[in-house]
Order: sequence, then C-alpha cells, then structure tokens
Amino acid sequence: MKKSRIGSSVIIMILVNLLLPDASLWEPRAQVVQIMCGNQLPHNSTISIQNFMQTMKNLNAQVQTSGFATAVGGSGLNTDHGLVQCYGDLSLPECVLCLAQARTVTPRFYPFNGAKVYLDGCFLRNENYNFFSRVYWTK
Ligand SMILES: *[C@@H]1O[C@H](CO)[C@@H](O)[C@H](O)[C@H]1NC(C)=O
Repeated sequence: MKKSRIGSSVIIMILVNLLLPDASLWEPRAQVVQIMCGNQLPHNSTISIQNFMQTMKNLNAQVQTSGFATAVGGSGLNTDHGLVQCYGDLSLPECVLCLAQARTVTPRFYPFNGAKVYLDGCFLRNENYNFFSRVYWTK
C-alpha cells in the first residue's frame, strides 16, 4: 500500500516537471553585444530624462503584445524617440525581459542623447530626433 503511494507520487512529480515550462526556454538572451552612444547633449536634460522614461514606458507596454515597437515621449525640443525590436525567436515575455535589460544599459550614455543598444536578443535605439518615420522628413 505504502509502496504504491510512493510510486504514484513519483509519477505525479515527473508529470509536473514535464508540464512546467522549461527554464531554458526563458532566455531573453540579454548579453550586451555592443553599445553606441550619441554625441549630442540634450536641450534640457531634466525634461529629456522625463521624456525618455515616458518613451520606455510606452515601448514596454507595446512589447507585451509585439516584438517590435516605436514610441515618442514628450514634445518640442526635448522630444524623445525610441524603437525596440526583438529577434523573432524570442517569445513575447522574453522580449519584455530583453527590453528591460537593454534599458538598464542606457544610463551609461548619460548625459548624451542617443543610444543604440545591441543585446543578443533585442535592439533598442533612442534619439532626440525622429529616426523611424519617413513622414517626418518630408515635413
Ligand atoms: C529644464 O527644465 C526644467 C523644468 O521645466 C526647468 O526647471 C529648468 O530650469 C530647465 N533647465 C535649463 C537648463 O533650461
């Protein structure tokens, strides 16, 4: 009686292990490959940082449902523009984690505007000008 109970709990444990997501599937591939810093100082760094935070919040909201996003924070001279793209083999939760990791690199760029962060699994770019909308250039 006791022996069969142990046997069935072992089987349950094996089943649970098979059903749980494999930890190796959750790899945002967040190793920094390269970072490139801009060389322009923001017009007003206080406002610029606030706008940057706004852009990142917006990007973060978008990558919950898409591996690619662009966002704009603030307006006027300190408008912040951000773009994130994850490699296609990353799941959306991995993409969110990868962006979070890329964001932690950006303080290294301070006080300069402009950041390109290449991680193993995703790319983040941030500038004080619009680099992703062609419409912008025709205006
Ligand atoms: C930057 O903006 C803040 C908030 O509007 C303002 O208080 C500050 O004086 C500005 N700094 C410069 C250097 O213009």
